[in-house]
Amino acid sequence: MSASRIALITGASKGLGRAAAIEIASRGVTVVLAARDASALSSAVELIHASGGKAEAIVLDVCDENSIRDAVRFVDSTYGVLDILVNNAGVGLEGDWMQSNAESVSQEILHRTFETNYFAQVAVTQAFLPLIRRSQHASIVFVGSILGSLTLHASHTGLEGMKTVAYNSSKSALHQYALHLADALADTSIKVNIAHPGWVRTELGSEAAMLSIEEGIDTIVDAALIDPGAPSRQFLHKGEQLPW
Ligand SMILES: NC(=O)c1ccc[n+]([C@@H]2O[C@H](COP(=O)([O-])OP(=O)(O)OC[C@H]3O[C@@H](n4cnc5c(N)ncnc54)[C@H](OP(=O)(O)O)[C@@H]3O)[C@@H](O)[C@H]2O)c1
Repeated sequence: MSASRIALITGASKGLGRAAAIEIASRGVTVVLAARDASALSSAVELIHASGGKAEAIVLDVCDENSIRDAVRFVDSTYGVLDILVNNAGVGLEGDWMQSNAESVSQEILHRTFETNYFAQVAVTQAFLPLIRRSQHASIVFVGSILGSLTLHASHTGLEGMKTVAYNSSKSALHQYALHLADALADTSIKVNIAHPGWVRTELGSEAAMLSIEEGIDTIVDAALIDPGAPSRQFLHKGEQLPW
């Protein structure tokens, strides 16, 4: 058993997940970095160790149930509890963000996008819930997106030209799941929140994005380290509530 809180961050091999893991470790949390690229994970873990933090890497494919089972076994046998789960792993498979088209999006892209961005998020969360329930002060964060906001798409305010229909609908579905999970856990102290990082220059966000990775991680980190007295069931961006 460890004295510090334990966090598991999926998609921690690069982009927002990697940077958020490094920041959360710098706040005294023991971080388990999870993704498929083992060597990228190792280099992030080395960086955390070099600055005095505690971290380990596990190879986790969020779309593979055996891989999820192994990850749960590892966290259970090593720590016996999970305090923070950041469901960050995600894909954007539609190429040019401005060119996707609801008339032509393929079944293949829709299925693959939902497999990672929705079904895998549910599977990982459900698998870790028994360990999360053992925490005195637990936080589950889903890395969602303003592109999943039905309110904004319905009102034609602000998301013109961002019509990546597979990605956007996978995030709307993820937000819906987060709301239902928050309701299911309403009689516990477990916080369930959604963090929208902003449009960030990662492989997924592209070079055209407005924010650097460093500027994009604060919402994820704040939601992960949320105060026990703070509300659950929020769709957050830089301390503000976003429209659903
Ligand atoms: N960048 C933005 O502008 C932006 C805006 C809003 C929301 N987001 C969300 O932020 C999250 C992180 O995105 P990012 O921009 O940092 O993207 P990124 O740099 O492309 O990183 C994506 C991460 O997801 C992991 N991943 C993908 N499929 C996986 C799988 N099957 N199993 C395990 N890990 C998997 C990748 O690791 P491996 O390949 O090593 O497995 C990688 O670490 C995503 O959920 C994304 O939708 C991003």
